[in-house]
Amino acid sequence: MDAAETTDAVTDESRDVGPVVRADRVSREYRVGSATVRAVDRVSMEVRRGEFLAVTGPSGSGKSTLLHLLGGVDTPTEGRVLLGGRDLGRMNERQREKLRLRRVGLVFQRFYLLPALTARENVELPMAEAGSDRKERHERAGELLARVGLGDRTEHRPPQLSGGQRQRVAIARALANRPALLLADEPTGELDRDTSRDILELFLDLTRSGETTLVVGTHDAELAEGAGRGLRLVDGRLAT
Ligand SMILES: Nc1ncnc2c1ncn2[C@@H]1O[C@H](COP(=O)(O)OP(=O)(O)OP(=O)(O)O)[C@@H](O)[C@H]1O
Ligand SMILES: [Mg+2]
Repeated sequence: MDAAETTDAVTDESRDVGPVVRADRVSREYRVGSATVRAVDRVSMEVRRGEFLAVTGPSGSGKSTLLHLLGGVDTPTEGRVLLGGRDLGRMNERQREKLRLRRVGLVFQRFYLLPALTARENVELPMAEAGSDRKERHERAGELLARVGLGDRTEHRPPQLSGGQRQRVAIARALANRPALLLADEPTGELDRDTSRDILELFLDLTRSGETTLVVGTHDAELAEGAGRGLRLVDGRLAT
């Protein structure tokens, strides 16, 4: 596939009939000194449109690594990842980055919001990177913040928001470019139980409405139980 074809494919939603993301015997090895760690070990899985999948497993079992591979943030040492049917391993870095920006939203345990920007400006950032115009960005950011329950906090900066509110801004930001796939790594890791429940409700809402497909990596039992499906990793392998 040449560059032009891939670029067109990125914006062609009508082709997305198969799984949102699929991993075929994917491994990720890290070499540290003379030792090699297989953080993810021959994992095959797929996620269908509108699913809410929880990836659980002990600390160090490979949850974060798997999420990064699914989102094209990291590259497998073996196997392949297909995002919207397109093989990430057959793209160059620029093509992969472009696909990721448009198709994948990322939410982390720590929010990584820019503290000097308002909630609205934080949500606008990925839209600016994707090239949408100023007016459209402003409006969509307002809509997204209202969607996550922060319609009255759009001009607040992250230090003026609670932890749960910051995580909502991070989720709104991750949704900015209407990603087919939302990946959330320990999204409730720093939140109290009530606030975590609110985030779970929001995730259920976003997946039931068909707005996105969600994969969370989590230790939070309530969040994992709330998801429609669970996968468990042990030592990088899928446990059955
Ligand atoms: N950059 C790296 N270099 C070397 N080893 C790494 C690197 N990142 C992760 N690992 C190793 O890969 C394994 C899986 O790590 P990963 O962060 O995916 O686990 P996790 O399931 O997300 O753990 P946690 O629940 O603590 O977040 C661990 O053994 C870890 O030490
Ligand atoms: Mg992790």
